[in-house]
Amino acid sequence: MNMLPDEKNIQLPKPVLKGDISVEEALSKRKSVRIFSTKAVGLSELSQILWAAQGVTRDWGSRTAPSAGALYPLELFVVLSEGVFQYAPAKHQLLCLSRQDVIKALSKAALGQRCISEAPAIIVIAAVYERIEIKYGARAERYVKMEAGHAAQNILLQVLPLGMGAVPVGAFHDDQAIKVLGLPSGYTPLYLIPVGYIM
Ligand SMILES: Cc1cc2nc3c(=O)[nH]c(=O)nc-3n(C[C@H](O)[C@H](O)[C@H](O)COP(=O)(O)O)c2cc1C
Repeated sequence: MNMLPDEKNIQLPKPVLKGDISVEEALSKRKSVRIFSTKAVGLSELSQILWAAQGVTRDWGSRTAPSAGALYPLELFVVLSEGVFQYAPAKHQLLCLSRQDVIKALSKAALGQRCISEAPAIIVIAAVYERIEIKYGARAERYVKMEAGHAAQNILLQVLPLGMGAVPVGAFHDDQAIKVLGLPSGYTPLYLIPVGYIM
């Protein structure tokens, strides 16, 4: 079932800034969810999840997750049966990279994990290390991984008020994932986060 408009740049709906679940409730309810309903993830839910991970919150470009030196080395991708898309935080848009269904191939790169092959959407957190190595040198590696954790946790909490679940997946072959996703050179995938509605 097609959910996204057939355009190269897809404008996402504005994120909601008030919700019904408190931070405390979300923290107490968070758990890894690996089995999802087959329902496609709606555009407003996708918008909310991407905004939670890396959305812009202030005029100067500050984001929902902190970043060392505000250099923002993370890039998010969304894998749907409709293709692979990159999140553009400044315009809150999705940019279409390919219209191929790579979910099965991505699951294969992740040791055949069913939480990936059976997910309606997978958020990929990738990093461009050179963006922050310029300032922080060898310490950049540590900072990038910390930032990926911040962004991932935002996703894991944001899915709860949407009636959804997620699991952070770190077990995958980097080279295979890069190839399957068609990531540009210099992009390193750090986390695959399948998301979907709770059964
Ligand atoms: C760095 C990291 C990597 C993980 N990789 C995977 C994974 O590849 N597959 C998976 O099913 N769960 C993965 N998990 C989820 C853990 O298995 C899960 O968080 C743990 O069992 C605790 O359960 P909970 O998240 O429900 O509290 C990962 C978690 C972290 C923090």
